Amino acid sequence: MLNLKSKIIIAIDGYSSCGKSTLAKELAKELNYAYVDTGAMYRAVTLYCMNNNLIENKIVKTDLLEKFLNQITITFKYNITLERSDTFLNDLNVENRIRELDVSDNVSIISKIGFVRKKMVILQKEMGKNKGLVMDGRDIGTVVFPEAELKFFMIADPEIRAKRRYKELLEKGDKISFEEVFNNVKQRDYLDENRAESPLKKALDSIILDNTCVTQDEQLKRVIDIINEKFGR
Ligand code: DC
Repeated sequence: MLNLKSKIIIAIDGYSSCGKSTLAKELAKELNYAYVDTGAMYRAVTLYCMNNNLIENKIVKTDLLEKFLNQITITFKYNITLERSDTFLNDLNVENRIRELDVSDNVSIISKIGFVRKKMVILQKEMGKNKGLVMDGRDIGTVVFPEAELKFFMIADPEIRAKRRYKELLEKGDKISFEEVFNNVKQRDYLDENRAESPLKKALDSIILDNTCVTQDEQLKRVIDIINEKFGR
């Protein structure tokens, strides 16, 4: 286990399906830190909208959503059997449901809404108030924790990312084509980078990690070396 001089916040941002959450989870384990997947929070709000007819044909009923936003609670609970953190939407475990393609297809529309982001950022800042946290997303190093001690920005070739995502979805039993997944990845990249509210962009002080040609173990080793060098005892 890594032993640091003091507790820090590690922000991991980057494109979809770049391996952010895999790296973040492994790091949190090494450091005995909390891990928060902020994408899961936007996905949970999206699912709430889908379940409550607040989104139809990609049109969001923003007035109603704003009214109901306070009725949405999102929590994370560690699942000992599966050794992962599960996302709960109003006390219902939605961890698997929020990863399905229909949620992925709608999430960019919800995550670009200013008042949704504002609420998520408040919750996220609260989770980091005692430090000792690894958080991944799109705006963690730029908006949520611009003062984070360590920031990474992950990139990888879009086709490779789509292939990884496609494999994951197939393993879960989803019946989808590679084209659908590839288009979703490309479309989300475009929407994430081009939205007006907190677009995906590299924080000036973040370290780029290109995940195209490295294994998860190589990536983790590189990051641990960086952490040891900067913050090790
Ligand atoms: O990391 P992910 O693919 O599960 O994220 C789902 C969507 O949520 C993604 O398309 C962009 C959005 N998102 C965001 O806007 N800000 C974050 N901090 C995290 C995710």
